[in-house]
Parts: sequence; C-alpha cells; structure tokens
Amino acid sequence: MGTIYLVLSLCVLQVHSMALKGPVLTRYQPCGLGVIYFDKITDMLWRAEINLELYQNLGEVEIIIVYEKEMALFGVSHNSTVFINNDSHNFTFIPNEGVPDKYHIYTSIKENTTASVPIVKSFTLNRIVMCNDFLKAADTISSLDATQPDDTEYRHTCGRRSLSHTELNYVRTESVQAGDWPWHVAILIKKPFTDLANYHCGGNVISTMAILTAGHCVLLTNGKLREATSIVIEAGVTNLRDVDQIGRQTRFAERIILHPGYSEDQATSDLAIVVVNKLRYTEYVQPICVWGPVYDKTELFGKQAVITGFGTTEQNLQSDTLRSTNTMVQNDTICNAFAPDLYPKLLNEFTFCAGFGPNAGINPRNGDSGGGLFIPTKQADHKVSWFLRGILSKCGHRTVDKFCDPKYYVIYTDVGPHYGWIYHNAGLIFSSNIMS
Ligand SMILES: *[C@@H]1O[C@H](CO)[C@@H](O)[C@H](O)[C@H]1NC(C)=O
Ligand SMILES: *[C@@H]1O[C@H](CO)[C@@H](O)[C@H](O)[C@H]1NC(C)=O
Ligand SMILES: *[C@@H]1O[C@H](CO)[C@@H](O)[C@H](O)[C@H]1NC(C)=O
Ligand SMILES: *[C@@H]1O[C@H](CO)[C@@H](O)[C@H](O)[C@H]1NC(C)=O
Ligand SMILES: *[C@@H]1O[C@H](CO)[C@@H](O)[C@H](O)[C@H]1NC(C)=O
Repeated sequence: MGTIYLVLSLCVLQVHSMALKGPVLTRYQPCGLGVIYFDKITDMLWRAEINLELYQNLGEVEIIIVYEKEMALFGVSHNSTVFINNDSHNFTFIPNEGVPDKYHIYTSIKENTTASVPIVKSFTLNRIVMCNDFLKAADTISSLDATQPDDTEYRHTCGRRSLSHTELNYVRTESVQAGDWPWHVAILIKKPFTDLANYHCGGNVISTMAILTAGHCVLLTNGKLREATSIVIEAGVTNLRDVDQIGRQTRFAERIILHPGYSEDQATSDLAIVVVNKLRYTEYVQPICVWGPVYDKTELFGKQAVITGFGTTEQNLQSDTLRSTNTMVQNDTICNAFAPDLYPKLLNEFTFCAGFGPNAGINPRNGDSGGGLFIPTKQADHKVSWFLRGILSKCGHRTVDKFCDPKYYVIYTDVGPHYGWIYHNAGLIFSSNIMS
C-alpha cells in the first residue's frame, strides 16, 4: 500500500507561504557570464561547469582561465590536453575528442582559505576574452542605465544586478545577500487605523512604477479588490524586520490593476500590477525582464529556474529573511500523472508546473504567492539576464493545516502569453537585452 496523502485540492495560497529547503549552494559566476560558473562542493573543492552547448557549431574549443590565486587541479570531465602556467595561475584546457555540451573542472585553492573563492582574473574561450578586470570594472549600476543622449524616456537594462552580487551568490535556505535578487519585493497589508502592516505576498519589480504579483494577492476574501491605500511595497529588502536596512525603499500603492481574465479557480490569468510612485534603481532595486512576446512552454520543460520569497520556515512560521532556491519546470504530463484529479484542471497554455516531485533531495518546500520564477538567459554580450517567466499561483496543500505540501508541483501563471497586457500596464521601456 502506498502512503495516503491528505491533499485533496489545489487551493489559492493565502497569506502563509514559503519555506525553501535544500542544501546550501555557493555559486561563483565570473563576470556574470552565462557560460561558466563554479559551485562549491566542499570547503576545499570547487567544480566549474562550462556550458559549451550555449555556443552552436564550435568545431573545437580552447578554454583559458587565469586565477587570482594559485590553484590545484583535481580533474576534468573529458579527455583533454591541459597546460598549467604562471605558477598554477594560468590554466588552458583543450578537450581532445570533440566539443562536449558541458565541461567540468574540479579544482581547489592551494592556500588554506576555506572562506575563499576561486576568483577568475580572466576567462577566454577560443581567443575571445569574455571576462577580465577591465570588463569587471565597467560593470556598474550606472552601466545598466541605457539612456541615450537623445532619449526622452529613461531606458534601463533589465534582469541584471551589480557585479558584486552577480559573481558570488548563495542559492540556499538561509539569508540571501542584499542585492542578490533586487527585483523581489514584499507586499504588505496595512492594518486599518494603525501603522502596522503584515507580510502578505511576494512581487516583482518590472518597471520603476510597476510591481507584478498574483491576482489573488490583491483581492479580499470576499473577492473584492483591496484598497490601494492598504497595500505597502517593501523593495530592496532581504530582512523584513530590519527597518534600517540599507537600500530599502518603501512605497504605498497608488493603483491596482487586476488582470481582466482573473478567475479564482484558475491560474490562467492570476496576475495583478501594483502601481507605485517611482522606485529608484539602485544596487538593491532593479527590474527583472519579462519573458515574451514569443513563448513556447515546451521549451521550458526540464529547465532549471530560481524562485525567491519571504515566507514560512520549516515550523511554518513566517520568515523575516529572503530565501531563494532552485526548481525545475516540468512537462505537463508529469504533473498530470502525479495527481490526475488536480493538475489537468489547471494546466493549459497559460500555466505550467514546477518542482522536483515526491522523491527530490532538493525541494522548494512551498511557494510564495506572487513571487516570480526566474530563468537565467545568456545574452549577446555572453552575460546572463534574468527573465521572469512565471508568477506563483497555486500549490497543493493539505486540508488540515493549509500549508503547501512540498511533494506537490506548484502551478505558475506563465507571463509569456500576457506580455502585451503587462507591457501596456507597466510602462515598460527596456533596452535591447532581449533573449538571444
Ligand atoms: C601570473 O598570475 C598573476 C596572478 O593572476 C598575475 O598577477 C601575473 O601578471 C601573471 N603573470 C603572467 C606572466 O601572466
Ligand atoms: C585521450 O585523447 C588522446 C588524443 O586523442 C588519445 O591519444 C588518448 O588515448 C585518450 N585517452 C583516453 C584515456 O581515452
Ligand atoms: C596563459 O597561458 C597561455 C599559454 O598556455 C598563454 O597563451 C596566455 O597568454 C596566458 N595568459 C595569461 C593572462 O597569462
Ligand atoms: C585551515 O584553517 C582552518 C581554520 O583556519 C583550520 O581549522 C584547519 O585545520 C586548516 N587546515 C589545514 C589543512 O591547514
Ligand atoms: C512530455 O512528456 C511526454 C510523456 O513522457 C512525452 O511524450 C512528450 O514528448 C513530452 N513533451 C516534451 C515537450 O518534452
């Protein structure tokens, strides 16, 4: 006999939300490049992953990495010719038998520096220098301002954060660093006749005036739209309790725009835009790119994505600190087969499901309503821009305590099909870091 679960329905998430579970992952991404990152495997060992599949038609490949510190090499994933120069600072890798999709390098820093990172001074792929000190110095917050001298609008690059947050970040259960996910905001609801506000939902900065969240986050239990004056946006925060956190920007909602197609029992258009009086783009507050207008859900299947949120901890208490974790977008067939009475009703061309399923070692425990599902996308400049693809809409939960059950896949509203509506209502003006 299998286990009998108490889950009976997929319900709209209410106030309580998220507990991200899974081992800490420390990732170092030189220059924010899409092609290479280092994951910390143990205190001493790092694994570099080089995604050569991002580059089509490479006949052969030569990878040169120059490190700041002396490094020890433990191995590589494919039969290769390796040259080590300059007192173990300068490594050249040439795979011998064709170009692999993914190439791995196992390495460690020679000196005893458990707290340290394998800082890359330069990264060169087939003689193209993709990362060096000069490129690092050029990457600042003002470099994200793409306003041209003759522009009448304030154009801004989306989906990027400042390099100090891009190069080293922690995908893990505890404390995200300020600025790691600068588009994530907390949506609070003011208590009537007081100065108090309670955490309610997550949201995503998509322009200086627009926060994209879930439709059900802006509705009262009787189905009526909340008063704009009751909604408070906290941007640039990773700790809700730290009122003095550097970078925090608090805004009151000026207007709420619920998607006209919103329906409580569906996830197809579970979207709303909260309009605020201009946010300022800083190291801590940046917009995320919105996926679209072209979208093909099937291309998402099997892809890794990141979700972030404040929310509940293991003990189902609300957490004060922002957390992030990986998730995986699943083929509809997998979710439908997992719970044939639940998912087929919710999955369609406007929605998708994500999660690691019942046997996962790493599990997003729950999702945070209104929070985003982000997909890193390599751009023409070889760097990653983050795209918002989904808004967390529904999770499977037990009827007993109403907390999301981590074994169940989570349903997201796909923003791709709604790109026109979002664009129109958010005053989006982005520079051209479009999907490559
Ligand atoms: C050797 O590596 C160190 C550290 O990266 C660097 O400062 C130095 O310029 C390098 N020397 C040569 C000849 O590349
Ligand atoms: C690695 O590749 C080289 C050159 O192609 C070849 O001579 C050698 O036998 C290969 N080694 C292994 C262990 O396959
Ligand atoms: C690293 O070594 C390679 C030869 O193995 C050389 O071509 C390259 O110029 C060196 N780069 C640096 C920055 O030292
Ligand atoms: C490295 O340093 C840590 C703390 O500084 C110490 O506990 C450890 O024994 C050292 N390891 C080696 C191999 O020297
Ligand atoms: C989804 O899964 C089904 C069943 O495993 C498979 O037939 C189909 O090709 C998959 N679709 C995609 C786009 O991966």
